Amino acid sequence: ASNITTESLQKYREEISTLLKEDGWSPFFHLCLYKGFWFHPFFLDGAMYAQDHFQAQPSDIFLCSAMKTGCTWLKSLSFAIATRGQYDESTSPLRTIVPHDCIPFLEYGEYSTAEGPRIPLFASHLPYTLLPKSIIDSGCKIVYLCRDPKDTFVSMWHFFGKLKNKKPREGGLVSIEEAFELFCKGLSSYGPYWEHVLGYWKESLERPDKILFLKYEDMTNDTEACVKKLAEFFDCPFSLEEERKGIVQGIIKFCSFENLSNLDVNKTGKQVKKDGFLENSAYFRKGKIGDWRNHLTAEMGARLDNIMEEKLRGSGLNF
Ligand code: A3P
Repeated sequence: ASNITTESLQKYREEISTLLKEDGWSPFFHLCLYKGFWFHPFFLDGAMYAQDHFQAQPSDIFLCSAMKTGCTWLKSLSFAIATRGQYDESTSPLRTIVPHDCIPFLEYGEYSTAEGPRIPLFASHLPYTLLPKSIIDSGCKIVYLCRDPKDTFVSMWHFFGKLKNKKPREGGLVSIEEAFELFCKGLSSYGPYWEHVLGYWKESLERPDKILFLKYEDMTNDTEACVKKLAEFFDCPFSLEEERKGIVQGIIKFCSFENLSNLDVNKTGKQVKKDGFLENSAYFRKGKIGDWRNHLTAEMGARLDNIMEEKLRGSGLNF
């Protein structure tokens, strides 16, 4: 479902056709450079449309992240926190709707057609500098989620391997070694990864009341603290009564990898995208910290760590 008209689409496609292009991670996934970041063209027209048309309300909250840093989990937790007055575990739309359809992505042009109840939560993979201007002008709150780059990379490589193209063409995904080379050069969807993270990190230091900066690893190691932090940030902190009733623990358990990945909708459902389709199960792979060790050599890991260290030097952020 998209709000983008054929005329707008035509205009954006023309602009996209003038951008610098590089081979991406597969023959049907080239990347193009738009305002300092690499995009798959099919995510870019929606981003351009959102920049031109999305009108944020001051009370809207945005869940932002680069790809594969855990936004499915963040969306589920945020949705469960924000709607806990309306639903409990047995009635939650998260039981029957994939988390991505409960909180829409801005750049898919789907923001007024999401399924489920209207709640002021939106998601985006856009870099901070490319968010629609009204989000910043309206002083909207933003949650940013990042993750260790090695696990992010490994998660992304597996994910793109699962995206099914509508018109199957020759050639699949490049090898993990080739994709790694590209990632290290910044050539990945919404990359360079470090620029994505840095943009939000710097802004979170400037405006800590508006930007909550989270790491997947912290969410994993202390989920309860993060869930409480999210509720406070959304201006709906858990009451003592709620805590006593175990609502926080209930949300954590319901949104856990084990529970969500075993729901029918996430096991067997699929989402039809502009250029293909994706089985919902692709959003749930392992959900572990450090899985990169099973796919990259120690040298590759050290190389990416060094790149990140160099890029983030002096920022106060590290992984
Ligand atoms: P892995 O591929 O390392 O398993 P995104 O949601 O941004 O696309 O990120 C996907 C990553 O988050 C995947 O990581 C996925 O398994 C993990 N994930 C999905 N749901 C999760 C959950 N409820 N708890 C923890 N991790 C989750």
